Amino acid sequence: MSSQSQSAIILGTGSYAPENVVTNDDLAKIVDTSDEWIRTRSGIGQRHFAAKDEATSDMACIAAQRAIEAAGIERNEIDLIIVATMTPDMPFPSTACLVQSKLELPNVTTFDMQAACSGFVYALSVANSMLLSGNFSKALVIGAEKMSGILDFEDRTTCVLFGDGAGAAILARDTTANVGILGAIGGADGSSPSLLQQPGGGSAMPASEASIAARQHFLKMNGKEIFKSAVRVMGQASSDILEQVGYTAEDLDLVIPHQANMRIIESLAKRLKIPMEKFHNNLDRFGNTSAASVPIALDEAFRAGRIKSGDLILLVAFGAGLTWASTLIKWQ
Ligand code: ACO
Repeated sequence: MSSQSQSAIILGTGSYAPENVVTNDDLAKIVDTSDEWIRTRSGIGQRHFAAKDEATSDMACIAAQRAIEAAGIERNEIDLIIVATMTPDMPFPSTACLVQSKLELPNVTTFDMQAACSGFVYALSVANSMLLSGNFSKALVIGAEKMSGILDFEDRTTCVLFGDGAGAAILARDTTANVGILGAIGGADGSSPSLLQQPGGGSAMPASEASIAARQHFLKMNGKEIFKSAVRVMGQASSDILEQVGYTAEDLDLVIPHQANMRIIESLAKRLKIPMEKFHNNLDRFGNTSAASVPIALDEAFRAGRIKSGDLILLVAFGAGLTWASTLIKWQ
């Protein structure tokens, strides 16, 4: 096992899901699908959709406030905000700036992280490095998404899979040896962006009547290809981080994988030879909330008493890009 003298620890977590619960049966009234198809192919039973006037930053702020309370800090101790999202309130300013303003925080470093569903795990790694630089003392890291805003409710192959929500964590530097974030990996293969993308609305295809009529502002996905890549990269990112830090899969107490598809998670469990009881999953209740999925599950696991001092926890995610990321945490 590699040894480290300081790292970032998670002082507290929080999460939020919008009030409106949409069941598979509800969606079956809009598109040609069924509860049975969605459950057996993905493991999803329901998801939360944000209200029309509820933006990503609104959900992010509620999750953040809950994390601040759980961490027991004053909000003005925060000097770094990173929001991982692929559904920002608007292209600019960043959602992190909007969160800063809504939380009434003074001058702090704020920026968004765009690594799709891997965003929160990427952001943890960046926050860890920035805290270790000595220039920051407390980081607020958020994963928040309003996926319902980019879903095409005429495309049954994608609109049944995603949900809205936010999760947050407060990180601080700690000098206790071998606790906190022990290591992190982030990877990407940008060679096939069309496997999962929102083609319209950026500089390549600015919004026009034609782009809107062609439904180019909605999420498009080749589910089968993404599925195959996901199984491979989630497995690799998990074994690589364990090897890098000097642990084996048997040492893990808890795995929090990105909640995209139960069959992907089961394949990961099989590949790592870890029993499913060691995974914390909530896909059945939330669907795929993209960058919010890992922090929502982390918060749930913590509040359910599934995380205790000394536990070794693996966070692992993949997403559009293709991107992937893993983090190994020894809970303080
Ligand atoms: N209801 C009913 N039937 C459907 C639906 C639906 N909602 N969607 C597709 N079908 C049909 C298809 O049309 C197809 O019919 P056909 O055989 O007559 O052509 C049939 O069901 C089988 O479709 P497949 O695409 O083969 O289904 P598959 O078993 O591959 O499951 C799924 C599809 C769930 C999308 C799966 O491929 C998957 O989960 N892929 C990974 C997606 C993912 O993880 N995305 C998140 C990435 S993270 C991020 O960054 C956002």
